[in-house]
Amino acid sequence: MSNAVGAAARRVGALRAQVVDPASSSRQTPQEAPSARVGLVDWFFGASGIGGKRASFTVAVLGAAGGIGQTLSAFIKANPKVAELRLYDVAPVVRGVAADVSHVNTRAKVSGYVGDDELEACLRGCDLVIIPAGVPRKPGMSRDDLFGVNAGIVRTLCEGVAKTCPNAIVNIISNPVNSTVPIAAEVFKNHGCYDARKLLGVTHLDVMRAKTFVAAAKGFDDPTLVDVPVIGGHAGTTILPLLSQTTPRCSFTPEEVSALTSRIQNGGTEVVEAKGGAGSATLSMAAAAAEFADACLRGLSGESGIWACAYVESKATRAPFFATKVLLGRNGVERVAGTGTLSSYEKRALESMLPELEASIKKGINFLHS
Ligand code: NAI
Repeated sequence: MSNAVGAAARRVGALRAQVVDPASSSRQTPQEAPSARVGLVDWFFGASGIGGKRASFTVAVLGAAGGIGQTLSAFIKANPKVAELRLYDVAPVVRGVAADVSHVNTRAKVSGYVGDDELEACLRGCDLVIIPAGVPRKPGMSRDDLFGVNAGIVRTLCEGVAKTCPNAIVNIISNPVNSTVPIAAEVFKNHGCYDARKLLGVTHLDVMRAKTFVAAAKGFDDPTLVDVPVIGGHAGTTILPLLSQTTPRCSFTPEEVSALTSRIQNGGTEVVEAKGGAGSATLSMAAAAAEFADACLRGLSGESGIWACAYVESKATRAPFFATKVLLGRNGVERVAGTGTLSSYEKRALESMLPELEASIKKGINFLHS
C-alpha cells in the first residue's frame, strides 16, 4: 500500500547526503553551485515527486483549522498528485491556515473557505474530500461521547458533498467513525447519490500504530516494512489487529498478543491522556490521513495493487460496515477483502466486538431518521 510517510523517513539519510557542504559551496557563485535536492515533495513522495506524475486532483479538507486539519493540509500540499487544495472550516483562521500552507513551494494551489456560505465553493469539482471536522476527546471520554456534536457536523458536511460533488471520494476521520460513516451513507442515500465504493472511514492510524508497536516488540528496525491488518471498527475493542497475519511472519506468545492488542486498541487514549485535556492524536493522525489520502489518489490515478485497511460497507461479517483491507482503484473501493484465517483469539475477539459495532452502526443510521 501507499507508504509516503514511511518513504519520507527512509529518505532522510539520502537527503542529508545530498545537501551541499557549505565550506566548498562558499567558493562558488550561486550559478556554479550544484543544486541540492532538498525538495519537500521528493522527501515525502520519492520517485513520484519532483519531476514525477503531474498534479491533477482537487482535494478538500473540511475542518482544516483544527489540530489534525492543519498538519494534514501541510502534508497534502506536498503531494504532487494534488493540483488544488481547498481548506474549509467554521473558524475564520482557516484563511490564515491557507495562506500559511500556500507558501510551501509545491504545485498545489491553496485557498481557504469559511462557514456554510462558502462550503459549496470549496467542494465544487473536488475529487477527494477529507473530513476531520468536529470535537476531539478529552481524558475520560469515549469516542461515542462525541456523537452528540459530531453527528450533526458530519451530516451537514456530507449534505454539502451530496449537493456539490456527489462523485467525490470521501474520507471520514471525525469520531465516532463507527457511527459517522453510516451517517454519511444515509445522507448520500437520501440524496440519491450513495456509492459504497466512495465512502471510506479512516482507520489507518490503527494500522500505523500496529506497525510501530509490533516493530518495537519484535526488534524490526523499520516499521514501514511491517504489515499488520487491523479489522473491525475504530473504537476500543472494535479495533482488532490481526497479529496472526503479521508480515514478516513472526510468532507472538499469548501474553504478547494480549498486550499488543490492548496497546493498539488504546493508542488513542494513550495520546489523549498524555496531552492531559489539550486534544487527542493530531500529528500521527495527520500523517495517517495523508498516507491514506495518497493511497486513494494513487487508486484514482489508475495505479494497480493499492491495498489499505478502511472502514467501508462490507459483507465480510454480519456488521454492514466493517474495516478490512480494501483494494483502491479508479472508482474508489474496487474490492473488499475478507478477514482471512483468524487465530482462535481473534475469532473470539471478533465475535465479542460485533454487538457493539452493530449498535454503533444502528445509532448512526437512526440519527438520520430521528
Ligand atoms: P480540533 O478541535 O483540533 O479541530 C476540529 C476542527 O473542526 C476545528 O477547527 C473546528 O473549527 C472544525 N469544525 C467544527 N465544526 C465544523 C463544521 N461544522 N464544519 C467545518 N469545520 C468544523 O479536533 P482534532 O483534534 O483535529 O480532531 C478532529 C476529529 O478527528 C475529532 O472528532 C477526533 O475525535 C477525530 N479523530 C479521529 C481519528 C481517527 O483515527 N479516525 C484519530 C484522531 C482524532
